[in-house]
Amino acid sequence: MKTLVIFYSLTGNTKRIAEGLAAKESYDIAEAVGTFRPGPFKALVLGSFAARGLKAWAIKPLDADISAYERLMVLAPIWAGFPVPFINSVIAGLPEGKTVSFKAVSASGKSSCKERVEAAIKAKGCTLESFEDIKA
Ligand SMILES: Cc1cc2nc3c(=O)[nH]c(=O)nc-3n(C[C@H](O)[C@H](O)[C@H](O)COP(=O)(O)O)c2cc1C
Repeated sequence: MKTLVIFYSLTGNTKRIAEGLAAKESYDIAEAVGTFRPGPFKALVLGSFAARGLKAWAIKPLDADISAYERLMVLAPIWAGFPVPFINSVIAGLPEGKTVSFKAVSASGKSSCKERVEAAIKAKGCTLESFEDIKA
């Protein structure tokens, strides 16, 4: 299946993992870049709150045509147990009918978001193929 790896990374961990996966499988890769870069206070206080509420923080247009891929591998840093709000913009922009493999990257290797991520992906008419917690 033609696969595109999409990731957001604030401090580099998810970028390193995404680039490793893409290189290993020769997948194309696109970085989701926020319309702003949160500093420590914004990330820890507002970001954690927004992540828990599944709020979407805006991203710049992706440097890839998602519609050209059948499968999307989405990698998200975990903030307060949930995907970073920028990744919620990626999910909100999913075209219908895509197969999504989701990887949650955190310090602990534990998240509490599988059900909510799956519901958000299904709401876009897409299928969650797999969900994996990765310890950075
Ligand atoms: C605001 C914020 C909240 C975080 N919350 C969690 C958390 O709930 N659980 C966890 O294991 N790691 C948490 N982390 C750690 C990140 O998930 C981890 O460092 C991740 O690898 C960051 O990815 P990045 O370097 O690609 O930005 C948090 C980090 C930040 C900045």
